Amino acid sequence: MKKALITGINGQDGSYLAEFLLGKGYQVCGTVRRSSTFNRGRLEGIYRNTFDHHVNLNLEYSDMNDSSSLIRVMDAVRPDEIYNLAAQSHVQVSFDTPEYTANVDALGTLRMIEAMRILGLDKTARFYQASTSELFGKVSEVPQNENTPFHPCSPYGVAKLYAYWITKNYREAYGLFGVNGILFNHESPRRGENFVSKKITQSLARIKLGLQDKFKLGNLEAKRDWGYAKEYVESMWLMLQQDKPDDFVVATGETHTVREFVEEACRNLDIPLIWEGQEAEKRGIDQRTGKVILEVDKHYFRPAEVDILQGDSSKARRVLGWQPKVTFKELVKLMVDFDLRKAKNESREILID
Ligand code: NAP
Ligand code: GDD
Repeated sequence: MKKALITGINGQDGSYLAEFLLGKGYQVCGTVRRSSTFNRGRLEGIYRNTFDHHVNLNLEYSDMNDSSSLIRVMDAVRPDEIYNLAAQSHVQVSFDTPEYTANVDALGTLRMIEAMRILGLDKTARFYQASTSELFGKVSEVPQNENTPFHPCSPYGVAKLYAYWITKNYREAYGLFGVNGILFNHESPRRGENFVSKKITQSLARIKLGLQDKFKLGNLEAKRDWGYAKEYVESMWLMLQQDKPDDFVVATGETHTVREFVEEACRNLDIPLIWEGQEAEKRGIDQRTGKVILEVDKHYFRPAEVDILQGDSSKARRVLGWQPKVTFKELVKLMVDFDLRKAKNESREILID
């Protein structure tokens, strides 16, 4: 039975990857960090009850800022495959916490692969690094592929650039089987609530049911290449099954603005949306009620923006045999449907202790 270690297992990708690997018969260990609230909700598909156990899955406390905890867990598990997904993954938050982000995302990756060396796991285990299309930042070409120059535009992007290069450096210097998956934005019902896709689908579903009046967004014209997270985790696994370690872009190849995401979500909810005003004064209005349901707020604009991301994943398609199936419209629909079901439950059951 193969053993996998996933850092950040209770994140969006970590939870899908855990399900995927368990389905392949792996024994999985995931790292979680202590929090004042119990944040294992995304693992509910595996653990039906809060204090449940799964015969092939165990969780260990660890933190990317704490080398000793990483060494302890790696030594206890001695995994065949390591998926480093843990990160401070929010771009805007990285402008507010740049040092912390660098510590977790950049040095945390170094701590992981140095721990592999200390324990001799660099000879036996394979390492996946969660790299990102944010590396391309101020893009020099559209679409972006593995050879497009990097120009990160945030402390998050810069920290991830270090992680990208240190993984590559350990591959070249020590022969580590280390790969970078350069994944473009991928979303799902499990997406964190302060990322734009989830913020849109959750807010509009609640507005539809009368649980909320309006919500606020920043830059509506940024373009992203949005795919479905559940499909993207398979590419991570495929990268570690190759004969040679290499880096891969994983993307749909399509790009859409944030505004188009809002419009598609409204279509799904049968909200007749019209726009009024320009740029920072722009507002989205429900034509049926005449009410403002969306305002642009400068608070959500970033000090530097990545204007357009569109990936060329032909290498992943050719070498890994991976390709996305869920389209942009299907992705928006599955997120809207989920958030509508969730909002319906919320409207029935508001518990106050
Ligand atoms: P996510 O939902 O934000 O999950 C991040 C995970 O990292 C969570 O489990 C989080 O734990 C954990 N974490 C954060 N800080 C930590 C620390 N100091 N020590 C240990 N664990 C820590 O992110 P995601 O969307 O699943 O993304 C997974 C990875 O892929 C990230 O590295 C992200 O940067 C990268 N990536 C994501 C995308 C995307 O579009 N989703 C695209 C490219 C790359 P808590 O729950 O305790 O916070
Ligand atoms: N979060 C957020 N909130 N973004 C907003 C908002 C808002 O209210 N309004 C507009 N946006 C715009 C952002 O300015 C950005 O251009 C776009 O929506 C997407 O923002 P996010 O959903 O926060 O994602 P991201 O592209 O910055 O970063 C995600 O994708 C990266 C891969 O390209 C994260 O998952 C990163 O961890 C990942 O590396």
